[in-house]
Amino acid sequence: MRDCILILFGALGDLAKKKIIPALYSLVHKEQLDNLHIIGTDLANISKHNMLKAAQELLPEIDEKTWHAFEQITHYQQLDINNLEDFKKLKEFIEVIEKKHNLSGNRLIYCATPSDLFSTITKQSHAARIITCTSIEERPWQRIIYEKPFGRDYTSAKKLNKEIHNCLNETQVYRVDHYLAKELIANITLLRFTNRMLEPQWNHHDIASVEIILDEEIGVAHRGNYYNQTGALRDVVQNHIFELLALVSMEPPTTITGSDLQEKRAEVLKNLSFDSGILGQYEGFRTIDGVKKDSMTETFAALKLFVNNERWKGVPFYIRTGKCLQKTKKLIHLNFKPEHCRLIAGCPLPANRLTIAIEPHAGFSLELNAKKPGYTTTVVPITMEFCHECLFGVYTPQAYEVILLEVIDGDQGISVRFDEIEYSWKIIDEIYRKQLPLYFYKCGSNGPDEEFEGKI
Ligand code: BG6
Repeated sequence: MRDCILILFGALGDLAKKKIIPALYSLVHKEQLDNLHIIGTDLANISKHNMLKAAQELLPEIDEKTWHAFEQITHYQQLDINNLEDFKKLKEFIEVIEKKHNLSGNRLIYCATPSDLFSTITKQSHAARIITCTSIEERPWQRIIYEKPFGRDYTSAKKLNKEIHNCLNETQVYRVDHYLAKELIANITLLRFTNRMLEPQWNHHDIASVEIILDEEIGVAHRGNYYNQTGALRDVVQNHIFELLALVSMEPPTTITGSDLQEKRAEVLKNLSFDSGILGQYEGFRTIDGVKKDSMTETFAALKLFVNNERWKGVPFYIRTGKCLQKTKKLIHLNFKPEHCRLIAGCPLPANRLTIAIEPHAGFSLELNAKKPGYTTTVVPITMEFCHECLFGVYTPQAYEVILLEVIDGDQGISVRFDEIEYSWKIIDEIYRKQLPLYFYKCGSNGPDEEFEGKI
């Protein structure tokens, strides 16, 4: 039974309005939840209608009947997270709703707030007994979701993990990364471990390099203040890119679920090391509201890293991300080593390449060599393509719907374990300590012009 009460902290924030409330509405519309009630909380004294209105305006389509039903299961309670009395009142309210609507007592807390509030929310919810420390088998279950970024460096993430573990078991904790819930990313593990022809080649004997690219055409828009304090390394590299890198390079998990995936991803991140790189900032960033006039925050990063284990010995992992670039392009390339040439003419041969495209056109493609037609041994590169949308149609469940369902079902595969986070922060801290050069680039370009080893 998918039955629970969801307590949404930060209910008036951007994330709640743009992603979480629409995802909940969509799950209700698709009848994927059996009995759900939502309590939004935030500092302002407003009505639930005002809370929902902000999200409603962003939904492309509304089914009146579903929206009405959605309103009936949604509630709002004003709350100051520094006031324990407010949490006690919230607990009473939760119990009233659980009783009135015959809920089984499963509770899910969603912290859609900045990470410096996570500890207080957890401690206060625990002190008010909204959530208690429970084991994985216990029913009703009690779980908590933390949004990214989780901390802002190794020390703060470690401290936060410790404070959370003082109140809860790791099996109750979901540090979610919406990238892990994306369809093509969930597909990486299955692609690797269900195709006999891929896994034997997936190592340093056959792969020359791996590239992970998360280029974004959009700038930082109205998120100037957040972004000025965060930067590309914390905003995208530490979480999304490192998790992609871990999925691409991990050893085979025993099963493709929760803790097995976390274990294998953590092993990679533990063995990841930084080699070199550059940072960039787009021209005009400093004029955005909330951004300091002399800001040195990076909006672009291109890095070379290594996974120090037998499988990936000597294989560079090149990663790149940036805002305000020429094109939105989110993909992974596995560049194979070139084949030895046995042709009389026409060498060197183009190397094979497997691409996993996340956006804008999700799918896989494999670049091979094939004979050019006619009386010749000339080879030309050809591409075999799998277009996700062409074969399966437009994929509708959005990442946040998948996150909610997986947490409700108790699968921790989309959740990042405490040590994964700590290992990845260690590398980010090291990169910041190196004080890499920051180059300026034009909005709409491919990033800084500077040459550096491994530029992609
Ligand atoms: C978010 C970052 O986590 O991920 C944003 O804060 C970034 O800056 C976004 O744009 C990218 O996610 P997606 O799903 O649009 O690729």
